[in-house]
Amino acid sequence: TLRSVVVGTGSGLPARVVTNAELAERVETSDEWIVQRTGIRQRYLADASETTSVLGIRAARAALDDAGLTGDDIDLVICATSTPDHTFPSTATQIQAALGIHAGAAFDLQAVCAGFVFAVSTADKFLATGAARRALVVGAETFSRIVDWEDRTTCVLFGDGAGAIVLEAQDAAGTNADRGVISASLRSDGRHREKLYVDGGPGSTGTTGQLRMEGKEVFRFAVGSVMDVIEDALKMGGATAADLDWFVPHQANKRIIEASADKLGIPRDKVVLTVDRHGNTSAASIPLALDVARRDGRIRRGDLVMIEAIGGGFSWGAALIRW
Ligand code: ACO
Repeated sequence: TLRSVVVGTGSGLPARVVTNAELAERVETSDEWIVQRTGIRQRYLADASETTSVLGIRAARAALDDAGLTGDDIDLVICATSTPDHTFPSTATQIQAALGIHAGAAFDLQAVCAGFVFAVSTADKFLATGAARRALVVGAETFSRIVDWEDRTTCVLFGDGAGAIVLEAQDAAGTNADRGVISASLRSDGRHREKLYVDGGPGSTGTTGQLRMEGKEVFRFAVGSVMDVIEDALKMGGATAADLDWFVPHQANKRIIEASADKLGIPRDKVVLTVDRHGNTSAASIPLALDVARRDGRIRRGDLVMIEAIGGGFSWGAALIRW
């Protein structure tokens, strides 16, 4: 059997950090309100030249370097994004071209904040069946371009950035026997459209549109419904929450993350939290958090890691990975 093993991680963040205090000069808000309600202290915001593909390329290159690989070694690129540079071609093909990757397929995947979990699960299916050998899985976003900067209830929550991992198909044998993506559980329910959506697009206004969100409703759903996919992924993987070394949830809000961890009985010191420095970067938040925790020495080979996210649609998912 083939297993999809993580062999590299990377980040691609914009150059400019914007603190809550700086935001308070633009909209009627305060550092105190933002920190207390969300745990966010700062976010990175892209300048005009830092598009989603630029950030994605940065993260992908860092992940390849980390793995000690080049573009020639990759034969699948999946980019999770809801904020592509263009309607088409896909951001994944732009990343592919920039890194000199000429083998296999490259495509975007859109499941909003859950996009990276969906992309990992999709790449795993390619690798486990032998359809591809090494996949670059990227989450890249510039939500600053779709938030309504007049709406203080949403604009303070989001940041820009990209994260990437390299997955490699390895024979599940010997010391590698239980490494790799172990299980994944994905769900969607389109009935929740009104709670979190973008009010534009080619088929409606003809413009990009802006993000609209019923924050309280999203909060309630996020804490309640994410349990089903987490429990499902654990069960499929023959594990319990107590077996987890690291819980790496989508970084939307510290209160959502802590409420979910508490429900699962996961101690706070096993929760990777980066929302304080990155804000909510949608599909990029999990690979960014994985890269932080791996580079600072927390996530190590052999660790059992749970990733989990929920976003617009709603779409939500969880995956269990033995590092
Ligand atoms: N600064 C200051 N005051 C504000 C701000 C702000 N930026 N935004 C709202 N307020 C005010 C409101 O106007 C309201 O004032 P009022 O009581 O006079 O009417 C008050 O603060 C409370 O607002 P609520 O919306 O009730 O605040 P709540 O505690 O629900 O927190 C928040 C809002 C942070 C958006 C929360 O609901 C949340 O995190 N929801 C989840 C949304 C989320 O994370 N979405 C991300 C995308 S989906 C995903 O990734 C999971």
